[in-house]
Amino acid sequence: MPIFRIERDGDVAFLVFDTPNAPVNTLSRAAREEFAQVLPTLADDASVTAVVLISGKADNFIAGADIEEFGSLRTAEEAGALSRSGQEFLRWVEEFPKPFVVAIHGSCLGGGCETALCATWRIATDHPKTVIGLPETMLGVLPGAGGSVRLPRLIGLRAALDIILAGKSERAAKALKLGLIDEMVHPAILRQAAAAAARRLVKEGKPSRAPNPPGLVAAILDRTTLGRKLVASMARKQVLKKTQGNYPAQLRAIEVALIGLDQGREAGFAAESKAFGELAVTDVSRKLVGLFFADTAMKKDDPAPGAKAAEVRRLGVIGAGFMGAGIAGTAVTQGWVEARMKDADLKSVGRGIKAATGIVDGRLKRKRITRSEATRLTALVSGTVDYSGFKSCELVIEAVFEDLDVKRKVLRELEQAAGPHTIFATNTSTIPITQIGAEAARPGNVIGMHFFSPVEKMPLLEVIPTDRTSPETIASAVAFGRRMGKKVVVCKDRPGFWVNRILLPYLSEAGRMVGEGTPIDQLDRVMLKVGFPVGPMALMDEVGLVVGQKAAKVMHEAFGARLEPSPLLASMLADQRQGRKNGRGFYHYHEGHKTGVDDSVYDLLGVRPAPRDPKEIEQRCLYAMLNEAAMAYGEGVVKNARDGDLASIFGIGFPPFRGGPLRLMDDLGLANVVQTLEQLAAKHGPRFTPAESLVRMAKEGKSFYPA
Ligand code: 3HC
Repeated sequence: MPIFRIERDGDVAFLVFDTPNAPVNTLSRAAREEFAQVLPTLADDASVTAVVLISGKADNFIAGADIEEFGSLRTAEEAGALSRSGQEFLRWVEEFPKPFVVAIHGSCLGGGCETALCATWRIATDHPKTVIGLPETMLGVLPGAGGSVRLPRLIGLRAALDIILAGKSERAAKALKLGLIDEMVHPAILRQAAAAAARRLVKEGKPSRAPNPPGLVAAILDRTTLGRKLVASMARKQVLKKTQGNYPAQLRAIEVALIGLDQGREAGFAAESKAFGELAVTDVSRKLVGLFFADTAMKKDDPAPGAKAAEVRRLGVIGAGFMGAGIAGTAVTQGWVEARMKDADLKSVGRGIKAATGIVDGRLKRKRITRSEATRLTALVSGTVDYSGFKSCELVIEAVFEDLDVKRKVLRELEQAAGPHTIFATNTSTIPITQIGAEAARPGNVIGMHFFSPVEKMPLLEVIPTDRTSPETIASAVAFGRRMGKKVVVCKDRPGFWVNRILLPYLSEAGRMVGEGTPIDQLDRVMLKVGFPVGPMALMDEVGLVVGQKAAKVMHEAFGARLEPSPLLASMLADQRQGRKNGRGFYHYHEGHKTGVDDSVYDLLGVRPAPRDPKEIEQRCLYAMLNEAAMAYGEGVVKNARDGDLASIFGIGFPPFRGGPLRLMDDLGLANVVQTLEQLAAKHGPRFTPAESLVRMAKEGKSFYPA
């Protein structure tokens, strides 16, 4: 079956890109070959005055190059050749002898965006599904089909780097403002508008453009060699600060963009394909590509085969604090669910509603939604001090105080107030769901849904069924989480589930080292360099020491001496240090912003800070986490290694370029991991004793992933 078909609208030919039996269009080898045959026929056909490239898919224009093809690339030369073939292919579009319009609806990413950059006219719909961008750096490569060169020339170096370095995609309104597209229309008139644009171009030619971006600052920073040098140098600094040098693609992208502007397009294209080739075969890129496919596969997992998920239209949220409001606000921004929040008094409910609708406002400010969308979404949030309106909720999520008795009481009340089918989900971070639901009248309806804070930003959701949870409840919780846009990992009901289970030993080890006199900022710096987004001490301040202590207590009770919390927590709390929340923690805070290390912590602990060997810091923190991950995996807390690794990356920010803790252990070799743990145990104590399951796997020559 052909990938492209031609539909005529008088003298305008619509070239419809519609890959058979595929959910999205990609610039696969087959697509490129067919395109190469179709284009000359359209060029030669005298009855065709202009061409409109449009997609036959519902919500996708072009998803970019076929990422599957990356897997077969063995050498930098092969990968470079793939980039060059993409560049060549798009040159035909750019040099097409008639007006070539792209009519974009749905995702237009990577090579899709690069195709659009070669068109005479770009028109896109204002639909939320329409996003245009270059996510290549998220895959450890750079735009390799001319995008690293063309985008900076079109919208200026600063705006282009903003997109390329973050792997960002923009909605049509922002793309129009940047000059990335020429026209924005309602989806209903995309075809007509594209045909009209094509005819206008035939008649009037391409309109001349004012210099883009406009303004004096842009003239200096984007359009002079010196200005661009400054922009590139600042971008390099920011990238290095953010990536700690762990991700080479961003730095190469800056280099190539600059060459394309300063030395001309051809030099830019040559530099681009060379950089693409070298990057595509790095271990970093292989890991990131692997994560893309792992994530895609996880989205499709069926958590409860045969069970039907309830369609949730009304969500109840108990507890209108920071978490509750985050859950309600994030849910309503999807536009298909009402959220009713309950708290003890009107003041708390009011605060919760303000915080929840603040999430909608934030999306409006960032131009992710229109004003009328924001008004509609805001109206979906309501509040109450009793359980009025909860009877009709299909799902209720409790986000109250982290205390077993309080949570049980809430469940009792809800079972009285709600309907017989209402699902009760508890957003606990560590307390076993079985304990919360022990006295439930309808245990089949009880499940854990552990969101991460801040809910609107953190991608992960752990869903935790108990032995008594019904398959329908599991299917409903997973489906709801996915519709909320979360990456959902189903975990076994063990204390701490997956994320907190592996995070706590890591934080605790960091705490011990501070207690031994390791400088707080050195610890954080070392772990940032390892690739974590926040250092462990700063993270403890963020999470809050009260929350940390509660979680540590649950874990200690469950797992005994091995997870005994470091004495540091108790000392800090005795000194009224709760972290960022009360502005007193390991760091100083000014108006909510972290300023510097609070040196009085050392006095409090009775230690004199002295720098420690960074290797020791890295090893002790990381191996505490790896060992716990191996142990939790052995207990079946996650279904497979993929889920454990994705949960670690999306929940903690475990360095994606390392693939996750289980993948990292495979890469290190399990026997080597066991040996290092034994050495650490001999030196620092039995908490490092390697997990039995890890020792067994190492002995049997097994790995977490199939070899
Ligand atoms: N290559 C290969 N397969 C792709 C793909 C791509 N670029 N994009 C999506 N797919 C596949 C997915 O693997 C999945 O396959 P499956 O059904 O067999 O499991 C299927 O398409 C559907 O994908 P999703 O489940 O992710 O569908 P969504 O609707 O949730 O999302 C999307 C669609 C927004 C397009 C998302 O898939 C996405 O972000 N894709 C990747 C986009 C990207 O990174 N593009 C850049 C590619 S690199 C490039 O272009 C290099 C160039 O510069 C030379």
